Amino acid sequence: MVTSRWANFAEFSLPQQTNYFYIQKKKALARHTRCDVYCGARETVGGSSVSSGCWGEDSNHEYGWARRTPTYVAPIRFSSLWIRFLPRMHRLKISLNQETRSSDIHIGAGVRRDLGNLIPFKAPRRVGIISNQRVFDLYGREVVRSLKSAGFKTFPWLMPEGERYKSFRILEKAVNFLSETGFERDDLVMALGGGVVGDLAGFAAAIYLRGLRLIQAPTTLLSQIDSSVGGKTGINLPTGKNLVGAFHQPASVFIDTETLASLPPRELTSGFCEMVKQSLVADESLFQMTVNCLQNKRELNSPEFEELIAAQCGFKASIVANDERESTNRSDTRSRRVLNFGHTTAHALETVTNYRHFRHGEAVGYGMLVAGELSRDLGLIDAGDLKLLRDAVSLCGPLPRADNLDLNQITGALKHDKKSVGGQINWVLLEGIGRPRIVEGRLISAKSLRLSLRAGLKALERQKESFH
Ligand SMILES: NC(=O)c1ccc[n+]([C@@H]2O[C@H](COP(=O)([O-])OP(=O)(O)OC[C@H]3O[C@@H](n4cnc5c(N)ncnc54)[C@H](O)[C@@H]3O)[C@@H](O)[C@H]2O)c1
Repeated sequence: MVTSRWANFAEFSLPQQTNYFYIQKKKALARHTRCDVYCGARETVGGSSVSSGCWGEDSNHEYGWARRTPTYVAPIRFSSLWIRFLPRMHRLKISLNQETRSSDIHIGAGVRRDLGNLIPFKAPRRVGIISNQRVFDLYGREVVRSLKSAGFKTFPWLMPEGERYKSFRILEKAVNFLSETGFERDDLVMALGGGVVGDLAGFAAAIYLRGLRLIQAPTTLLSQIDSSVGGKTGINLPTGKNLVGAFHQPASVFIDTETLASLPPRELTSGFCEMVKQSLVADESLFQMTVNCLQNKRELNSPEFEELIAAQCGFKASIVANDERESTNRSDTRSRRVLNFGHTTAHALETVTNYRHFRHGEAVGYGMLVAGELSRDLGLIDAGDLKLLRDAVSLCGPLPRADNLDLNQITGALKHDKKSVGGQINWVLLEGIGRPRIVEGRLISAKSLRLSLRAGLKALERQKESFH
């Protein structure tokens, strides 16, 4: 099986805040306050035996895994719960040095049933579970049961379903609910649902009492690998998507791969497209791992797929750690802006179709195809890389037709891209797999843009013809 370094341990730092991200796979971690090291358990295959050890700084000031617990590190107690979960759970620890900004990501089949025990806060506290009817009917009861059995008091609040409810009106209702229920600073908000629920609940948590702790329990593929990690929260305005919001890092993220089983096929395709996007700007290994999983039609709750989700989250976390607030003055390959690959065209497609024709990830699928054509037109990539990109997008599943849309409308919408800086669109293009490059719009001629749009929006139709 192809694996990616993002699924394994990685260390990232937030230089401007001297924070550190530690991402560790299959290792239970605990922070030792005096020595500033991380230590924990390593399981053997099969999970029957557990050896103690330490990930941290040794006397030579080098980071690494020590097989024995050094004398200056406090011993760790292993709960039977952790050991039971280790064989089928990935744990990613994002530690930001300041207690209030540390995040754990738990990935595994059935994690929702043990949420209550895994939450890093002591009961009793109130937990406001923000969800929608569909998701709550599917998974709410088990989440409530788990929280209650751990001693938490649960208060579900359901928002209407759909992108258009990511609005001020619903946000106001959400914070009123928190206020009327008597939520205090130590209480928790949990987002149980896809990206829409996660963004709105996250924003409510960010602003109510100037910030409650947030737990993300994403249930769509897109939200599991993308929107639940990284701390962006927000709502839409009539003039555009996500125009009001805040950065509010979740305290914990619980990714239950079993919830993917109930997703409609289009939501899966949408998530696959976001996976392909992240892998194209990451590196060859994540790209290969993603393509392999798609090609071999891996079961959504198989270990391979879980590993892929962990790798995708690891990559996203590494970018966020490096550029948490998406600085507009950065254009290097690890700036948060590279995650907008495919999004310039995607937002224009969503705008001209009033958000009704495409799921977000589907529009990103076309956005990548257009960005690929532009990259080829500018001589940044060759025909081979463009074919790899096209093949990867077509593996995601069928996309709604886009070659019948009006190019003038699309180019008009592109001019209003909210990520433009000084009135200038910035395109994220590719110089190869894992080599994103930010290119100013003024360097792209109107003719090249139209040709690339036409070719990109038709690419999958042509692909289908050549298969037949
Ligand atoms: N904050 C970020 O960094 C970030 C990043 C990317 C996207 N987003 C936002 O995410 C949103 C899109 O998220 P999404 O794609 O998850 O869509 P979504 O939240 O609208 O969910 C899609 C649909 O699937 C349903 N659903 C959710 N989980 C389900 C499950 N397990 N089984 C069956 N049905 C389920 C939902 O009720 C909804 O109808 C957009 O608003 C976008 O702006 C945010």
